[in-house]
Order: sequence, then structure tokens, then C-alpha cells
Amino acid sequence: STAPLDVHKGLAGVVADTTAISEVVPETLSLTYRGYPVQQLAASRSFEEVAHLIWYGELPDAAQLAAFVNRERAQREVTRSTIGVVDRVPDGCHPMDLLRTAVSSLGAEDPAEDDNRRESNQAKAEALFAKLPTVIAHAHRRRRGLDRIAPDASLGWSANFFHMCFGEVPAPEVLRCFEVSMILYAEHSFNASTFTARVVASTLSDMYSAVTAAIGALKGPLHGGANEAVMKMMLEIGEPERAADWLRNRLAAKEKVMGFGHRVYKDADSRVPTMKAALDDMAALTGGERWVRMYEELESAMLAAKGIHPNLDFPAGPAYYLMGFDIPMFTPLFVMARITGWTAHIIEQLDANALIRPLSAYTGPHERPVPAAAA
Ligand code: SDX
Repeated sequence: STAPLDVHKGLAGVVADTTAISEVVPETLSLTYRGYPVQQLAASRSFEEVAHLIWYGELPDAAQLAAFVNRERAQREVTRSTIGVVDRVPDGCHPMDLLRTAVSSLGAEDPAEDDNRRESNQAKAEALFAKLPTVIAHAHRRRRGLDRIAPDASLGWSANFFHMCFGEVPAPEVLRCFEVSMILYAEHSFNASTFTARVVASTLSDMYSAVTAAIGALKGPLHGGANEAVMKMMLEIGEPERAADWLRNRLAAKEKVMGFGHRVYKDADSRVPTMKAALDDMAALTGGERWVRMYEELESAMLAAKGIHPNLDFPAGPAYYLMGFDIPMFTPLFVMARITGWTAHIIEQLDANALIRPLSAYTGPHERPVPAAAA
């Protein structure tokens, strides 16, 4: 008989590889992208600058930023073929299903799909960054029975996205809250969807396949789907005054409360204070203070009951609601941001690739003969 294998269920605590993209230090509540604290990036930089940082390791200088912005604005449009594919997925499907299908279609029509050279993958990453907002805005309008609005190359990445969704660009304060959410969502080491992308990349498959798989992983409510679940929960609770009782009943029924807890952060999620401040700003701008009150009621009730803190999805859900997005669009918004981290990790994986292929500890019946087939 063989020695029992050491099983790390959920890969908890397992260090699977090195990375130079972001560092999470739960003890000091710190998250840095290429060494820069996310809070400082969120306070002073555009999402285009942060995307450049995540991919290329440095914030762009003025010339690099201008060149990158031009490349981004020039390739926002998607082909009629991809729009046609998107339009053929069933009405009423979840927009994450639509997005997964769209990325698959973008791969199928890229002649460089299977070219895994570094420069090719960097070009594909930039293309996905430029095109995903176009697909997501189309999904948003299709849900509402509205015609699509083409990208406007005179607008920045975020402003253009709002234009394509709503036909107008909101106040700068709203755009800023949105950019803050994008910067905070951009990258987070070996989370489930990023690890999924790296697993697919490690077989030397292509970037679109890796991103398609990552979208599938992000959809689940234990991961990115939580931002939608949070807002559904808040609407179900309805009134801030009911929140504490609602939460206690929920915990008594041994049910998870969405938007709380984290595999890596056990004290608090480093990104939450910055996103909570953005939610406060959105509430002040739109008269949505009841959602802030509900947030605070739930947060203190959860801390008192279980000592568990909110994660980034908790403030992001109501912030997106106050920006005017439909709840099923929230996880696609997470995709728009995380596409930067996913693609950076795919490129990093391929820079020093090893096939990701762990072992399993078998617990089924040991070898036995197949019985004679019935006559
Ligand atoms: C994201 O990895 C990343 O970086 C992810 C992410 C990113 O940027 O990519 O940060 C984005 O996915 C945030 C997480 C969004 N998910 C949710 O909000 C769903 C609700 N939260 C959980 O189900 C849970 O906290 C996880 C999935 C986030 C973490 O799960 P773990 O590490 O496997 O922890 P666990 O489920 O084993 O919980 C440990 C204990 C348990 O209690 P005991 O059985 O030990 O008594 O804490 C309790 C859990 O019951 N617990 C919760 C809870 N989260 C943990 N109890 C109630 N509600 C919760 N939300």
C-alpha cells in the first residue's frame, strides 16, 4: 500500500508559482500592482494607466500613454460576425454566458489565435481590453430591447463605455467611482478565475480559450458572481432597519451571506475602504443613502455574529446599482476590469511555462475485475 498523500483541499495555502504582477499581504491589508498600492492608484490614475502598469510593469510616460490610448480607441469595434453570434444567444440568458460566447467568437475570428509569441499575446490582451466594453454595452442594451450604440473614439475608455450603455456620459464624479471600481477589480494574484486562465494557458492553448474559461470561473457566486448576489440580497431585505435580523436568521439557517469572507484576507479586504468611499460618493450623488445604511447594518451585524468582514463585492454591488446598471451586468463589469489581470497572468505563465497538472488522492474502490457481461 502507498503512503497517504497530503491533500490540500481547495488548494488552500498552496503556493502554485511565482508572480511579479501583484502582491497581497493580508497581515498589513496591502495589495500592490507591480509594487504600487491600489489605494494610491485608485486615487490618482486612470484605468488605462493601470492597465498599462499591469501588463508592462511600469506606469506609462506621456508618450506611452498617448500611444496606448490611440491603439485602444482604434480597435473598440467588433465585427458583424461577433455581433451576429451575440445576437443568436437566447434572449434572457445571463450576460456572462453571452460574454463567454463572445470571447470565444473573438478567438475564432483572430487569425493569430494560436500564435503564443509574447508580442502577439500582448496585442490580443489590448484588443480584448478595447473590445469587451463594446460587447458588454451591447449585452446591456439588448437586455433592455434597445439598439446598440457604436463606440466613440473621442471618449476615454470609461466614458465611452457609459456612452455605449446609456447614450450619455455621466458626471465626472460618477465616472471616477466607476474607474475606482475597475482599478480595484483589475488584478488579485491567484484567485480562482486567474488560476483557471493560467491552467488553460499552461497547456499552450490560446489566450481566448484561457479567457473564455476564466469568465466561466468568475461567474460563480463564490467568486465574481457575488457582486450580483449582494444587490439581490439588499433588495430582498428592502429596509436598512430589517438588515440585522435578516442576517441573523440567515446565519441561523447556516447559509452564506454573499459579499463577506475571503480565502486570503481573514481580517479585512484591503480594497474595501476605497470602494466603500466610492459607494458613499455614489449614494450622495444619487440620493441612495439607504443602501449605505443597509451596508453598515449588515457589516456590523456580521462582525458581531461571526467576526467576518466584507469583501470587494459588497460595496461594488450597490455602487453599480446606483450607477444605473442592471444587476446581471455586475459580473460582466468585473470582467471588463479583470481582463487586464487575466491576460497579464497568461503572458507571465507562458514566459516560464510548466504544465499545471496536480495529483489526486484516490478514494474509490481498488482495482477489481470487470464481471462477465450478462448474456
Ligand atoms: C472574490 O480569491 C480572490 O482573490 C477572489 C476575489 C478577487 O479579487 O478575485 O477577491 C473576488 O471572489 C470575493 C469573494 C466573493 N464571494 C462571496 O462573497 C461569497 C461568500 N463568501 C464565501 O462563501 C467565502 O467566504 C469565500 C468563498 C469567499 C471563501 O471561502 P473559504 O476560504 O473556502 O472559507 P470557508 O467557506 O471555508 O469559510 C470559513 C468559515 C466557515 O465557518 P466554519 O465552518 O469554519 O464555522 O467562515 C464562514 C464559513 O461558514 N464563512 C461564512 C462566510 N464566509 C465564510 N459564513 C457566512 N457567510 C459568509 N460569507
